[in-house]
Amino acid sequence: MGKDVIIACDFSSAEQTFAFLDRFSGESRKPFVKIGMELYYAEGPAIVREIKRRGHPIFLDLKLHDIPNTVKKTMAVLRDLDVDITNLHAAGTRAMMEAALEGLTRPDGTRPLLIAVTQLTSTDQAAMERDLLIEKPLDQVVMHYADTARLAGLDGVVCSPLEAARVHEVCGKNFLTVTPGVRFADGMGKDDQKRVMTPADAGKAGSDYIVVGRPITGTEDPVAAWKRCLREFLGSAE
Ligand code: C5P
Repeated sequence: MGKDVIIACDFSSAEQTFAFLDRFSGESRKPFVKIGMELYYAEGPAIVREIKRRGHPIFLDLKLHDIPNTVKKTMAVLRDLDVDITNLHAAGTRAMMEAALEGLTRPDGTRPLLIAVTQLTSTDQAAMERDLLIEKPLDQVVMHYADTARLAGLDGVVCSPLEAARVHEVCGKNFLTVTPGVRFADGMGKDDQKRVMTPADAGKAGSDYIVVGRPITGTEDPVAAWKRCLREFLGSAE
């Protein structure tokens, strides 16, 4: 898999999701789809199987965080859904990440890519110090979590596009950076995203995948918005 735009399908029902995906049915390239907690908890594994059957690559964004044994057994269930990427919280520790990889690996040695959430982009320095008693600078914490994920054998991290270049410096250029927080330069407001980049700038900053929700799902013509994202993002890498 190369660089791509992942559409965050943040819908709460299968009906809404398929009404949205049907708009792309005439396209030869199937959009990469992110299924998050909202849709997964509403519709269960059936929605993953149906989107897969329609030929979309899938990032299953369930952000697991529990004791190693529980995460391992859960990953062993998720691996049979045959998604392309799934994830967990690096805060669960290296032991949890190693157990997750074990659970995710099929008997034939294949497995979906596994990436880690470092510090959520909704967490700022003040909250980290006050609520988590972590007093190091936030960017240092993010890089440490990314490097711990790399040492555990994971394939990459979810991070801000502003952190992508540094993650590649610390963890190597093949360590994947999957970055939300993307907005068109002339587009709608930032919504609740605080630090945003355009698809082109995220590409230049070294993002391997951009995750884009409302700038595509919230427009009159989502197919045109998706194609614009692809053009800007992939064009920037050439
Ligand atoms: O609509 P929007 O483009 O802001 O959607 C971004 C998607 O990426 C959402 O599904 C959101 O949950 C997810 N995400 C994020 N920031 C993170 C991790 C995930 O925006 N740090």
